[in-house]
Amino acid sequence: MKKFEQVKSDLVNSPKIWLVTGVAGFIGSNLLEMLLKLNQTVVGLDNFATGYQKNLDEVKGLVTAQQWAGFRFIEGDIRDFDTCLGASDSVDYILHQAALGSVPRSIADPITTNSANISGHLNMLEAAKQNQVTSFVYAASSSTYGDHPALPKVEESIGNPLSPYAVTKYVNELYADVYARTYGFKCTGLRYFNVFGKRQDPDGAYAAVIPKWTASMIKGETVFINGDGETSRDFSYIDNAVQMNLLAATSSDDAKAEVYNMAVGDRTTLNDLFNSIKSALITNGVSVELEPEYRDFRAGDVRHSQADISKGKSKLGYDPEFPIQEGILAAMPWYLKNVQ
Ligand SMILES: NC(=O)c1ccc[n+]([C@@H]2O[C@H](COP(=O)([O-])OP(=O)(O)OC[C@H]3O[C@@H](n4cnc5c(N)ncnc54)[C@H](O)[C@@H]3O)[C@@H](O)[C@H]2O)c1
Repeated sequence: MKKFEQVKSDLVNSPKIWLVTGVAGFIGSNLLEMLLKLNQTVVGLDNFATGYQKNLDEVKGLVTAQQWAGFRFIEGDIRDFDTCLGASDSVDYILHQAALGSVPRSIADPITTNSANISGHLNMLEAAKQNQVTSFVYAASSSTYGDHPALPKVEESIGNPLSPYAVTKYVNELYADVYARTYGFKCTGLRYFNVFGKRQDPDGAYAAVIPKWTASMIKGETVFINGDGETSRDFSYIDNAVQMNLLAATSSDDAKAEVYNMAVGDRTTLNDLFNSIKSALITNGVSVELEPEYRDFRAGDVRHSQADISKGKSKLGYDPEFPIQEGILAAMPWYLKNVQ
């Protein structure tokens, strides 16, 4: 099994063509940045539902002009099959990230979430199959564990979904499994557990907790904790997710359909998270004196989440480089520069 450094060097020596859906979003734009830095050819697809042109512009500023020339952007919707078919034409690997994230968004509007996350996913799978793509890696989710009580979470044991979003992410896995079995191509789901880092949107009603709290602390606004603060999550810095996507896409295992936990394998409570962000900001010279305000638990949220990452380690060579505190420190300069 190859180490990540070896995978990167092989890609530089033998560049491939990649399709990244959701490329203007948080995870997609970080994948784009890494792939271009490795001199790959990248097709990006996004409809800007929750992604931004400014994310693409930022990546442009972080790579050379020659590397940027390897990128072709298609503004389009994965709910349109022909768009998916065109985007995946002649592509070696697909990293399918496009979806509507957020549990509360799915509770407020399950129909739109369903169409992007299920119909869009099926379109991408079918397009990948018709274009005979080598490997299809897609963003699954820890929400698929639902109400299963075991900790840490192992890939084989899932419970009942607790939100429409969780249903869509589980259906993604079911479709990928059926496609792999029926049509014989490689589909790998990465169950992301609370990914964070640069370019994760701090704004809007459905912002994730780390960017939302970071922005609030920088602006001196109230930070709300849903529940008693002892809810816990396995927060993972974005570079770990980028690593696992590249390992999964290029892995030579003959498994046709697999899902892997993408996390650090640690558990942090919201109370501890608050203190970690606060101390990272103080380290960066920002004075933060506020204390959190507690309010009701949020519907659809699971109480605790922590991944067992041994499957990814043993089958993909996954080796997360960033524990949470280092990731938070690494992400701070971006938020300090970008939060208005
Ligand atoms: N960030 C996390 O912690 C996390 C956790 C679990 C799963 N995920 C999954 O990872 C993926 C990426 O999430 P993210 O955090 O980068 O979110 P994001 O909102 O920043 O990125 C999603 C991107 O998909 C695009 N998109 C949405 N609907 C589309 C459509 N119909 N057609 C084309 N593009 C569309 C959006 O415009 C956006 O750029 C999603 O599938 C999400 O469900 C993320």
